Amino acid sequence: MLTTIHPNDEEAAVAAAMFVADAVMRKPDLVVGLPAGRTMIPVYATLRRLVRAAPAAWRDIRVFQVDEFVGFGEGDAGSFRTFLERHLLDELKLPTEHMDFLDGRVPDPEDECDRYESAIIEAGGIDLQLLGIGVNGHIGFNEPGESLTARTHVATLRDETRRANAGWFEGDLSRVPHQALSMGMGTLLRARTVLLLATGESKAAAVAQAVSGPVTTQLPASFLQLHAFTCLYVDGAVAKELRVPQLRPRRPRAAGGPSSD
Ligand code: GLP
Repeated sequence: MLTTIHPNDEEAAVAAAMFVADAVMRKPDLVVGLPAGRTMIPVYATLRRLVRAAPAAWRDIRVFQVDEFVGFGEGDAGSFRTFLERHLLDELKLPTEHMDFLDGRVPDPEDECDRYESAIIEAGGIDLQLLGIGVNGHIGFNEPGESLTARTHVATLRDETRRANAGWFEGDLSRVPHQALSMGMGTLLRARTVLLLATGESKAAAVAQAVSGPVTTQLPASFLQLHAFTCLYVDGAVAKELRVPQLRPRRPRAAGGPSSD
């Protein structure tokens, strides 16, 4: 993984947003995967400012949301779709056909997952997948376990994940759904570029394992080690736990003399 370390969460988020903007400048019809989550709030705030400055540059992108709670969808407080609309999409004002969402309120969520997987393929696949990470190493709602699911699927949320998401439901754990629809591991790993943003001490252990631990279903983000182009953006709090290779400074060679190393 290509890792860049930023002094604080705000600067990491701004750098991540600039990466997105640069990708859109290079490919105006970029297909982008969008996660919800606290980590992404300052990224989307920066993107909103960039969109306001040059709206025409963004009008051809296509977006897919990464995950959604079962039972939730358009207009629902607590839905990830509402989060994405509030923090980014209301400013982007994309044509409806340029946005796709996982609808957690459909009678048959498995059918909805199949529809979604096909829609991503029909769009030509995800060019740039933005990701946050759960404290247990989940990406999207691909939770640690004995096995992982490749395709978009209905996931059962672990207790720690439900607790971490209680904030979207006024801290009331009893209101946090037990299931969610999520892009699968294959869906995420097929993205041409992945940008994983992780900030704050609570994510440090999971990121360290994801970067340099074994590739294991017990820590889904570790599969990003197998991805050809994943960029990891972290702040100082996460970087502290990372074992980033240190470059040994070379002593200057005396003119005409033997090498000092
Ligand atoms: C959540 C979501 C992810 C998100 C991650 C981190 O549970 N399933 O899409 O990226 O966990 O969330 P946060 O940024 O709020 O810590």
